[in-house]
Amino acid sequence: MRSICLASALASTMGLGLVSSTPTSTDPEQPNKRASLPTVTVSGNAFWQGSTRFYVRGVDYQPGGSSAMKDPLADTTGCQRDVSEFKKLGINAIRVYMVDNSVNHDTCMKALADAGIYVIIDANNPLYSINRDSPAESYNTKYLQSVFATIDEFIKYDNTLAFFSGNEVVNDSLNSTLSALYVKATTRDMRQYIVNRGYRKVPVGYSAADVSQNRMQLAQYMNCGAEDERSDFFAFNDYSWCNSNFETAGWAYKVKNFTGYGIPVFLSEYGCKTNGRDFGEVAALMSSEMTAVYSGGLMYEYALGENGYGIVKISDSDSVSEQPEFAKFSSALVANPAPTGDGGATRSTSSVPCPTKDDYWLVDSTDLPAMPDGAKVLMVDGAGIGPGLKGDGSQNVGSTSTESGSISSPTTMTTPFNSKNAAGMTTTGSVDKAPLIITGLVMVLTLTGTLLL
Ligand SMILES: *[C@@H]1O[C@H](CO)[C@@H](O)[C@H](O)[C@H]1NC(C)=O
Ligand SMILES: *[C@@H]1O[C@H](CO)[C@@H](O)[C@H](O)[C@H]1NC(C)=O
Ligand SMILES: *[C@@H]1O[C@H](CO)[C@@H](O)[C@H](O)[C@H]1NC(C)=O
Repeated sequence: MRSICLASALASTMGLGLVSSTPTSTDPEQPNKRASLPTVTVSGNAFWQGSTRFYVRGVDYQPGGSSAMKDPLADTTGCQRDVSEFKKLGINAIRVYMVDNSVNHDTCMKALADAGIYVIIDANNPLYSINRDSPAESYNTKYLQSVFATIDEFIKYDNTLAFFSGNEVVNDSLNSTLSALYVKATTRDMRQYIVNRGYRKVPVGYSAADVSQNRMQLAQYMNCGAEDERSDFFAFNDYSWCNSNFETAGWAYKVKNFTGYGIPVFLSEYGCKTNGRDFGEVAALMSSEMTAVYSGGLMYEYALGENGYGIVKISDSDSVSEQPEFAKFSSALVANPAPTGDGGATRSTSSVPCPTKDDYWLVDSTDLPAMPDGAKVLMVDGAGIGPGLKGDGSQNVGSTSTESGSISSPTTMTTPFNSKNAAGMTTTGSVDKAPLIITGLVMVLTLTGTLLL
């Protein structure tokens, strides 16, 4: 089930123990006192609510699954229904994989804020995202306009916790590691846009697939080089616990590997369901074994879909039926509150050395693609109205990037719908759940008459 692992001998040489840059001391920003919820900021390798350490204790929220092309935060009835359940669970955060940047989100965001819940927003969606098979071409002005419009829509809410600049774009295929360049460029552009527009500094980072052979290189890459090109945090998906324990699941190594990483790390998806689910991950994440390095995580997932990870079954627009795992997850949260104190977090941020090219990692340069000229205009004028979850998408509109390397030629993909499925957005979950995803994917592709796999 696990992807290929590097020989353990490599672990010692590739660990993050050696910090490259001089640590930068950082003071937490003052929280917004007028807000119903204090804003969360990054300082050192942790998140903070004022002077209180903040741990992500949340769920992934994707009712209808990844193929629904729906924004759950725009569905006010469904939102009310689920906020009641979130309160029962006692979570403090949700992740939403897809939002419609052409509509207003006041009602749902307020309901969430009133319940003490923060939101982590994926700034991409299947139509407007980096395509791992043609990353240069998909990194264009139309794409960035959608990403920036998503920032415009959500940055005004005090309970927006963070933005993901990409989701599982790099996967277990070696060539996909080259798409990391464009994800990092997107991260850079998002952070720059937030500064240029004078916005609150909502943290921006990437959510990595559960792929062991390139996880460390990807993490290093996202936090190496110039300050304005690095991420504010790093997140990855992890399905390794499987009702085992800290040692058996290999989490001791995950702590070791990320010790000294220098920015916050959390799990953007966790919750293996092999061997049943008692959510022992929560106890581990909240324990002193992990808190110095990790800032919690998001359990995959809230709504039950075909892959069987959900903890509630959505019956209709205003009712759900809780699965047995609902009470188990809630109990795990109650039994393992967020620790008091700073949990051993560092007070300064730092970067790490850039990874070098090897058998599992193809990026050979520290140069990033330049921002497309059209996007530079948006930096000054603002993004304007977003395209929402409709339109032709951005992946095939042709590259306007002036990257120094070769620009990939247009692909033969015929419709945006197909191209989205070909790459970039496997929002159904981790790579380790691939067989489940592929079954659905093949059906979709067969229906639309094009087989791209
Ligand atoms: C730790 O890092 C090494 C080197 O990159 C990698 O081979 C190993 O899989 C990592 N371990 C875990 C548990 O992530
Ligand atoms: C690998 O990725 C590069 C850069 O995106 C692309 O130009 C090339 O065609 C890809 N090669 C294969 C075999 O997919
Ligand atoms: C990884 O990406 C490649 C290229 O887009 C794709 O062919 C492959 O199916 C993906 N792997 C998984 C497990 O999704």
